[in-house]
Amino acid sequence: MLAEQKTAIEVTPEPTGFGAEVRGLDLTRPLPPETLAQVKAAWARHGVLAFPDQPLSLEQLEAFTLQIGPFGKDPFIKPMAGHPNVLELRREPDERATNFGAGWHSDWSFQAIPPAATLLHSEVVPPVGGDTLFCDCARAYETLSPVMQAMLAPLKAVHSAGRAYGTKGVFARETEKRTMEIIVSAEADETLTHPLVRTHPVTGRKALFVSPVYTLGIEGMTPKESQAVLGFLFGHMTQDEFIYRHRWRPRMLLMWDNRCTMHLAEGGYDGHLRVMHRTTVAGEPPA
Ligand code: SIN
Repeated sequence: MLAEQKTAIEVTPEPTGFGAEVRGLDLTRPLPPETLAQVKAAWARHGVLAFPDQPLSLEQLEAFTLQIGPFGKDPFIKPMAGHPNVLELRREPDERATNFGAGWHSDWSFQAIPPAATLLHSEVVPPVGGDTLFCDCARAYETLSPVMQAMLAPLKAVHSAGRAYGTKGVFARETEKRTMEIIVSAEADETLTHPLVRTHPVTGRKALFVSPVYTLGIEGMTPKESQAVLGFLFGHMTQDEFIYRHRWRPRMLLMWDNRCTMHLAEGGYDGHLRVMHRTTVAGEPPA
């Protein structure tokens, strides 16, 4: 007989409150509704949750993801065989191409309905490097002056996948070996707009919703004006005080909220294998 799942979870927040570690759960099995509700509440509160010691199979990762919500749509990367909603982020020891996810971004923000959550499970963790950094976009917004907040309130930011996955994007131009199968596409060059400041549907907190990788400009501004405003915002958002650095151990699950965070995958592990499995959970139109 399997032991019953605990109903009270142990949440240890980072000192800043942004990011937290969650213990006392076995994610290989379905969570009781009240436990799931606690996990979702902790996720909304802390933005990034780390669940150590979770030896999840692909099926168990898929099942836990579906407990959080329906799968999101992952474009431009070939999914794992037999698992259309799982991406393998794999970098071999002999790869020298820039590691995947190396620029600040919020996942798939160029979609009309970007994913609410991303889940990343560590299979092979290199002995050095390979951390993932997160920026608290809500705190970054809240620390702007009321005058700056009022100026940003009506603005729409232009998002596109083009810089990364477009016909002239980073992946189209690279010549180094890459194990992950990236699908470069003209579709990636399309643009759409989202509110530059979005409101979290659960917490009601406002957050900056722009990133250096996927935000091309601000609707109605000249390129120079956009560059000045976005350049200021990116510098402001990525200050140390808003960053949580996640150090991986094998068999850890990380779940982050794309609606109020952006993230960056650090390199620094050339010569070592790094393997992660990733799923996303559908969100809602940013508002
Ligand atoms: C990503 O999802 O952007 C990559 C994160 C990572 O590999 O740490």
